[in-house]
Amino acid sequence: MSTNTAPNYLPEVRNQYENFPYPPINPEDDKKRLYMPVHEAFDALNYYCFGGMRDFSKPFRALVAGGGTGDAITALAEQFRDNPQAELVYVDMSTASMEVAKKRVAIRGLDNVRWINDSLLNIPKLGLGKFDYINCSGVLHHLSDPDAGLKVLADALADDGAMGIMVYAQYGRLAVYQMQEALRLLNRNEADIQQRVENAKTIVGTLYPGNWLYASPQPILGELRNGDIGIYDLLLHSQDRAYTVPQLYDFVEGAGLKLVHFLSEDRRFGNHLYSPGYYIKERTVLEKARTLPLRDQQALAELLNSKICRHIFYAAKTPPTRPDPMDMEMIPLLGLKVAGETDAICGVMRQAGDVVILTSEMVADLKVTLPKTPHMEPIFRHVDGKRTLREIFRKVMDTNAAKKDKPNFQTLSMEFAAMFQIMNSYDWLFLRGKDTAPVLNLDALQARVKAT
Ligand SMILES: C[S@@+](CC[C@H](N)C(=O)[O-])C[C@H]1O[C@@H](n2cnc3c(N)ncnc32)[C@H](O)[C@@H]1O
Repeated sequence: MSTNTAPNYLPEVRNQYENFPYPPINPEDDKKRLYMPVHEAFDALNYYCFGGMRDFSKPFRALVAGGGTGDAITALAEQFRDNPQAELVYVDMSTASMEVAKKRVAIRGLDNVRWINDSLLNIPKLGLGKFDYINCSGVLHHLSDPDAGLKVLADALADDGAMGIMVYAQYGRLAVYQMQEALRLLNRNEADIQQRVENAKTIVGTLYPGNWLYASPQPILGELRNGDIGIYDLLLHSQDRAYTVPQLYDFVEGAGLKLVHFLSEDRRFGNHLYSPGYYIKERTVLEKARTLPLRDQQALAELLNSKICRHIFYAAKTPPTRPDPMDMEMIPLLGLKVAGETDAICGVMRQAGDVVILTSEMVADLKVTLPKTPHMEPIFRHVDGKRTLREIFRKVMDTNAAKKDKPNFQTLSMEFAAMFQIMNSYDWLFLRGKDTAPVLNLDALQARVKAT
């Protein structure tokens, strides 16, 4: 440990991450692409955590707690590349993981991170001050007292700040916990860490076909293919717990935070992963489900899905007000995930019919249906992440000025709001305040690395 504080970590957990830095990554890959974790993309972060009103070109303090091999800190460092007033702090107790993360940031030609090799539980003693944003992904469920860990982070959060958190979800990991128990029995007298991994690989490689593990969700099956590091993290972890939705609410609120928004790694779901409407198709039963308090609806959705294996969400002390799609001073912007698909989307919007059925090149099996409105396509075509809605509507009105049924601000505003509601629910459209800096898409962010 580089600091003068007492260790304050679980030695076995630290030992694991010194031997198996997580997630496994080749820093050289950062020369080719920017990996953007779900929490960190500025489009969603600003919209959900700051009501679209945060200007990321102004002073901003971000902490990545338990940063591992650097997915989150690299994405933040890249997006804050041009902001000398941004202060980014990485904390992790694993020296090996921190070295990988440092290399990734250095490969991008960046040096805008303060690196701290310590336990996040020591943050109160480090005098780091308050942060506008704290990422803590895949960490708290590995602490002996996750409540204490979250409290430490909540205390380091500014009153109007937000956190991006991921903790394991219980139901989707049921087979994992059975297999962990099996391997604990098998490895009871096995002191050698590598031999424990070999035993696990043998079991998984010759798994009884009826084992529940085969029915696990994709992220878990992916982890099984992630070599020794993935196998260890999934099946041999010495400290690992998971949460149901009700337990998650208790966990978050126990630290004085509020759950702001659930995110999903599986883009087919958009923001519908925790919505009963995604699972219940019969109207009267769905209406009944919708009378439940929000958290019970989300708990119901989790049970009906049955395979959610990670809860990925934003939390805040004071949840912000969501931007109003009828506010004409807001700037609409395409989500990073569909940036570059404008022409394709406009093409579909121009086709005849009462509805527009959108698919995404990047998301197989996804079909998003929007009721067609008269000026949907020209409105969408003018969305460039820089024009306000007022400017967009003015352009649409100008090109339709000679028409008998020419649109006005109010009709266009209503058309936009209807389109926005659906597209935003898949994170395809966001809003930002007009006094905030534009958001760069992934290609533009990566192009800057090639230029360094
Ligand atoms: C599963 S990895 C997740 C890494 C990263 N957050 C991500 O999402 O890719 C867990 C990380 O938490 C770190 N960690 C666990 N307990 C910690 C503690 N008490 N203080 C600081 N880091 C800790 C580990 O060293 C490891 O790098």
